Amino acid sequence: MSSFQSFTTFTTTTKTLSTSNRRSKTCPKQTQRFKISCNVAPDDNEKLLIVPETPKLILPKTSLDTVNVDRRNLLLGLGGLYSTVNLTSLPAAFAEPITAPDISTCVASTKGFQAKNAVRTNACCPPALSKSVKPFVFPNDQAIRIRPAAHRATPEYIAKYKAAIQAMRDLPDDHPHSFIQQAKIHCAYCNGGYSQIASGFPEKELQIHNSWLFFPFHRWYLYFYERILGKLINDPTFALPYWNWDNPSGMNLPAFFEDEGKKNPAFDAYRNVNHLAPAIVDINYGGVDTGTPCIQQIGTNLSLMYKQMVRNAGDPLSFFGGTYKAGDDAKANNDPSVGSVEAGCHTAVHRWVGDPRMPNSEDMGNFYSAGYDPVFYVHHANVDRMWKVWKDLGIRGHTEPKDPDWLNASYVFYDENQELVRVYNKDCVRLDKLKYDYQFAPLPWLQNRAVPRFRKSKIAARSIGKVKLVQETKFPLKLDKIAKVLVKRPAVNRSKEDKEKANELLLIKGIRFNSEKFVKFDVFVNDQDDVSASSPEESEFAGSFSQLPHNQGDDMLMTSAARFGLTELLEDVDAEDDESILVTLVPKIGCEDLTIGEIKVELVPIE
Ligand code: C2O
Repeated sequence: MSSFQSFTTFTTTTKTLSTSNRRSKTCPKQTQRFKISCNVAPDDNEKLLIVPETPKLILPKTSLDTVNVDRRNLLLGLGGLYSTVNLTSLPAAFAEPITAPDISTCVASTKGFQAKNAVRTNACCPPALSKSVKPFVFPNDQAIRIRPAAHRATPEYIAKYKAAIQAMRDLPDDHPHSFIQQAKIHCAYCNGGYSQIASGFPEKELQIHNSWLFFPFHRWYLYFYERILGKLINDPTFALPYWNWDNPSGMNLPAFFEDEGKKNPAFDAYRNVNHLAPAIVDINYGGVDTGTPCIQQIGTNLSLMYKQMVRNAGDPLSFFGGTYKAGDDAKANNDPSVGSVEAGCHTAVHRWVGDPRMPNSEDMGNFYSAGYDPVFYVHHANVDRMWKVWKDLGIRGHTEPKDPDWLNASYVFYDENQELVRVYNKDCVRLDKLKYDYQFAPLPWLQNRAVPRFRKSKIAARSIGKVKLVQETKFPLKLDKIAKVLVKRPAVNRSKEDKEKANELLLIKGIRFNSEKFVKFDVFVNDQDDVSASSPEESEFAGSFSQLPHNQGDDMLMTSAARFGLTELLEDVDAEDDESILVTLVPKIGCEDLTIGEIKVELVPIE
């Protein structure tokens, strides 16, 4: 941690702010709710085109080949397409990396597309130039492209950025580098454009959100987008700006997205007009403006950044998201936890920028349309920077997944020379090899470790008899109202060495919800029994589960999971010798029909 210098420490004293100050000009009240939808199911007819009746699948060699079993049929036989069967019990021989198919198998369909009155198309397949897929070659650029913080970019730089975006907009729509084709890449990889046919599962959708594919897919997407922009203006050093929303001086929407109005190529008409500068971004955004005074909002944002980057991100799967392998259902995956940053600041900023007046919160508030707003790429540059920062913190456990199924997962993109290339997760881990880096910015949130409301409250012990133990609780647990449960810890009074060996995590699994809705619930640990009022600055606020909807045809239910770090939390509130913790789940939005499958505390080894 020592290599990072913090220039500013924001501490907010919420209690000293009078209620008359609770609304400020720069955080205007907004009452409309976001409604976001995502995903297209391949049309049945189109499905038939790619799924032969007796599939002749080329399966990667596994031990199953020797016993002559069709892996796909075996999986389907276990419960069908949207089975809730727990696939973790299957032998490891099933696992293979997710492999994006050649673009020729891409499908687009309107059937099952949930974005009603969509203003953007859902026909998202890339233009086929009849080219074969080539292996990726690392760039041999002389210079490293340095991505600048958007709020510190010079006028010359901004002019260059706008010229590049304009050049992209000027290309014919069917050119693979055109503004529209670049936007559609996101829609194709999110809204059912591709199946897992290349890994032997043509009936399974390929989805790059809600799992450990999230960071690497978006890193590659931006890598090519940046090089295409540079090529269009003949500047091999061109780098994308990043929206530095984790830093107080970067918490407004960067001005160059708005200035000069509609003449500006970086302008997009579909944005929340209440959230233009000087409004401060809300990293805890739940679809409604809270009217929080801006200085307090900055404190909330920094505290949440600390939680998402440190406290809840202590191991690869907590940070990157859960495993997602060939044959896994994108909507009922075997370990589908969402990474701390994806579910947190990433999703919040998307929704905060999207236009609540639009039927699907276009553009940023919905995955199918997000790529049409130039803000998307500048937002994702900072998301990508979070990966680098998280690793550079040098904390034990802050390493990429070592599983070959993560390393060898791959996608197909048009590169800056209009060649189709296949790229692997393992090849995007080192920024020096990809020849780009980020301009330094302070990380003030590193100083924002939470503060406890109460220390040594013994709240779990005092709640026995009033709150049910987890083993007495009926699951699935409905979350249509606040739910409380006492959960036993696997160990108490863990020593320094114990903590170096394993993180103590609160796991909330089998979260089943209506994927048409935008969903958010907050999680508290050892909050007082009659209130659930801890703010994000406080230790007892563990974090949130939050999801952009992922709709697909008729199947509206989706399963996911969340992980929250307990080691620091229990140190903060001085509860390390408590046998149990009190967990409080507070529904915020879209939880009317949400259920929880399992709540437990586990020790997860740090590698
Ligand atoms: Cu692919 Cu920000 O989402």
